[in-house]
Amino acid sequence: MSTAQILIVDDDAAMRETLAVLARKLGYESIAAANVESATKILGERQVDVIITDLRMPGGSGMDLLRHVREHEPEIPVILLTGFGTVEGAVTAIQDGAFDYLTKPIDIGEVKLRIARALESRRMNSENAYLREEAASGSGIEGLIGESPALAKVVDLIRKVSASDASVLITGETGTGKEVVARAIHNRSERRDRLFVPVNLSAIPSELVESELFGHVRGAFTGAMREREGKFEVASGGTLFLDEIGDAPIALQPKLLRALQDRLIERVGANQTRQVDVRLISATNRNLTALMESETFRPDLYYRLRVIEIEMPPLRARREDIKFLAAHFLRRAPSGNAEQGARITRRALAYLEDYHWPGNVRELENAIERALVLSGGELVDVEHFDLGVKPPTSSGDADAPTLRLDEALDRIEKDTILRALEESDDVKARAARILGVSERTLWYKLRKHGLS
Ligand SMILES: Nc1ncnc2c1ncn2[C@@H]1O[C@H](COP(=O)(O)OP(=O)(O)OP(=O)(O)O)[C@@H](O)[C@H]1O
Ligand SMILES: [Mg+2]
Repeated sequence: MSTAQILIVDDDAAMRETLAVLARKLGYESIAAANVESATKILGERQVDVIITDLRMPGGSGMDLLRHVREHEPEIPVILLTGFGTVEGAVTAIQDGAFDYLTKPIDIGEVKLRIARALESRRMNSENAYLREEAASGSGIEGLIGESPALAKVVDLIRKVSASDASVLITGETGTGKEVVARAIHNRSERRDRLFVPVNLSAIPSELVESELFGHVRGAFTGAMREREGKFEVASGGTLFLDEIGDAPIALQPKLLRALQDRLIERVGANQTRQVDVRLISATNRNLTALMESETFRPDLYYRLRVIEIEMPPLRARREDIKFLAAHFLRRAPSGNAEQGARITRRALAYLEDYHWPGNVRELENAIERALVLSGGELVDVEHFDLGVKPPTSSGDADAPTLRLDEALDRIEKDTILRALEESDDVKARAARILGVSERTLWYKLRKHGLS
């Protein structure tokens, strides 16, 4: 933050002078006003970070100024100056929204402390107000927070595919929001009034997958005491979400293909086929191409599943979303204001934005949940996180040593790009040449590092 500006309001010139000298000594800049009227004028014209105002002044009291500030510039903390014996007035003022009060004669140590506290509060106010504003905007899709270009592409695809019945394959690392996207597609589709049925193929023993999906007749296998319908039938009219499709047993895959292609299924042990009407969305964090190469996944099924593919970008490729997501999860604070949520320090946010998030949004969600518990749910700071990397020692210290190779490389890459941009006067084509990469690659990297 640039030098903090303190507005000093007092009808007593000697007092204004004393406070101004003190402010300068403490490294702040100050502006003085002799009454409420000129104080409000200054507020309309200049950036002010903290106000110190006398309570009793001719032509308008400190309370009038306080009311004005609360209404027009609620982010600015107000410290009231009161003469000895009017402490009661100060207490009322605090109930009315003053940040703090100081009694005359003033004590230098006291002034220093109160101003520092007020400035810290001011910083938090504006940052958290900013976060709330940003979080409120969202992606326009329920449950999907974020505004990065990478996420905007996903949102665009969701909109397009919702109207159709085309099969969608959602790929991406763990915790990137694949299920959130699947639900969003269902909720925006014509099928939204029917069921969304999720089935996690990695959670079902392979010998039971077939009956889980297609159902079985009584006595089809040991333990099949009665006839049962499968998830394809349950989801009929709605959407079937096959999670971890990469784990589909190879023996089952021809049957899945048939269900997709001909919309026909057969309960295990039955010799009669049934017609089903499901929209299929599947997801995987495995590389299906590699699975096809090792012949554990059938290409014909793959092409049927991925009529449309949505690739969820990892969180580290859309770091801009971290502040939105953090604000969203901070609102789950058990205590405090449910609407605003817990607050987070700038340092902690920078730390989160710097981390590489191998577990993506889920990991962020868990980290914040934990931090909320450890912090008591009011103010979250760096020490409430345990991400296995050293937090920066100060907000400006982006060069804190790291032993994570991916992070270290990331940092070197970013620094090198910044140097090339400087060298090339920000001409991207020239910077790309210096770096020995294509312009396209440079654009991609700029976005990745939040430099575009
Ligand atoms: N963009 C987002 N906005 C808000 N919450 C999100 C977002 N993306 C993911 N989440 C949350 O993160 C968690 C993980 O998301 P989800 O279960 O959809 O991930 P996934 O990609 O299916 O992970 P996995 O591959 O491990 O199954 C969920 O609690 C989800 O609500
Ligand atoms: Mg999932």
